Amino acid sequence: MASSLLSRQLALSLQYNLRLSAPGCRFASKAAPKTQVEFEYDGPSMKTEVPGPRSKELAKQLGEMQNVGAINFFCNYEESRGNYLVDVDGNRMLDVYTQISSIPIGYSHPSLMKVLSNPNNMSAFVNRPALGILPPENFPEKLAESLLSVSPSGMSRAQTMACGSCSNENAFKSMFIWYRNKERGHNNPSEEDIRSCMINQSPGCPNLSILSFMGGFHGRTMGCLATTHSKAIHKLDVPSFDWPIAPFPKLKYPLEEFTRENAQEEARCLEEVEDLIVQWRQKGRPVAGIIIEPIQAEGGDNHASPDFFRKLRNIAHKHGCAFHVDEVQTGCGATGKFWAHEHWGMEDPADIVSFSKKMLTGGFYHKDEFQADKPYRIFNTWMGDPSKNLLLAEVLNVIRRENLLEEVSRSGKALLQGLYQLQAQYPNLLSSARGVGTFCAVDIRDEATRNSILIKARDKGVLLGGCGDRSIRFRPALVFKEYHVHIFLNVFNDVLAEYN
Ligand SMILES: Cc1ncc(COP(=O)(O)O)c(C=O)c1O
Repeated sequence: MASSLLSRQLALSLQYNLRLSAPGCRFASKAAPKTQVEFEYDGPSMKTEVPGPRSKELAKQLGEMQNVGAINFFCNYEESRGNYLVDVDGNRMLDVYTQISSIPIGYSHPSLMKVLSNPNNMSAFVNRPALGILPPENFPEKLAESLLSVSPSGMSRAQTMACGSCSNENAFKSMFIWYRNKERGHNNPSEEDIRSCMINQSPGCPNLSILSFMGGFHGRTMGCLATTHSKAIHKLDVPSFDWPIAPFPKLKYPLEEFTRENAQEEARCLEEVEDLIVQWRQKGRPVAGIIIEPIQAEGGDNHASPDFFRKLRNIAHKHGCAFHVDEVQTGCGATGKFWAHEHWGMEDPADIVSFSKKMLTGGFYHKDEFQADKPYRIFNTWMGDPSKNLLLAEVLNVIRRENLLEEVSRSGKALLQGLYQLQAQYPNLLSSARGVGTFCAVDIRDEATRNSILIKARDKGVLLGGCGDRSIRFRPALVFKEYHVHIFLNVFNDVLAEYN
């Protein structure tokens, strides 16, 4: 079935040999040729505005069953491939946002289709096990082939989970358990611990905290939400913990032009972190762990230097706090290194690294000492999904075989260069272009203009995402090549020209 779908897709791709022909001046990109024959389309192709009539009709139907306020449009995933997402009205868009940054190697990748059609894999897709109690025979081998083959430095253990939030939530629990066992000096809880935890009281439910950063995003479950500080809409009306929140550096871009000011700003934030750790210890609510994104994503693509992270890591060491790096959005290659924290150049970058999105499965890596000491402490029914490990193993093969990290660095440079050029061309509209690999962003003069640019770009066949108050974030798949960058820049240029 999968192979006939593939050949139908190949035939279709020959039919759709359309080139983008938007009017107006072309972005000054030189050669942007395709370097290889691919199965994907040649460019965007728009038939209606988005959402089109069919999408609107479906939204009405779904609206009878769910809140549809966030739905952009309905998709035709059968026809979507590579960097192109096709909607139910037949519009084909270059996807530079990829399902909130979660498609690693484009839509309907032939290698992933093959994994699905392999009879040896069928059972993993049909029989979803309760992994924590009844794993399949090949689980250790598949885990080694997938997640453990890309373990962050110093970590040889990985716990799979479902989504980003439940990965962080369980990682927090691991840090608290580690911290309490460290305080006790052993892992045998007292009678009082056991009795008091059942009524949500200390010492069984201890007054411990996680330090997070203003602007950070770590998910929407109750524990994670206490460490999320990107937008009020995520947090409103939900009770939270009294945990410390440190300022995240507000840097000036391009970073290399403002090294002195930026270093001062980072030093100010680090000082605040240390003060908060001391204050919360004095308050009787010690900081068991620090959580941070290598680049704050949802909060506005805010960067900090490797030096900042190295110093923060040292502060965590000094005060006996666990250091949790949330790579849910930055992980799996988007910055040109597999993990964004690799840019810090550290042998011991973290105690815990959580992941999800492009990794296809959620979960977290951890050092040995963060392994929960008893069964069922870090546990849920599914604890991940072995079929996702099969797909991830193949994604990693494709990344290696096609040198996609190099590709990301190359297209990332072209993207950032293009954004710099557009920023110079439209100084009243764009500012603070920034990025590592294709993990790039640019600020727009205000929120309303940002939102209208996103819609105009979509109507011209390019899907982008917003972040923070007024930024646009670029989150293409790892198969986004230089010629895709140039297709994007041309459309973006046409959109921006409408505001002059
Ligand atoms: C850095 C980060 N952490 C955690 C999450 C939560 O992941 P999920 O939406 O899968 O729960 C996200 C989601 O955007 C994220 O970007």
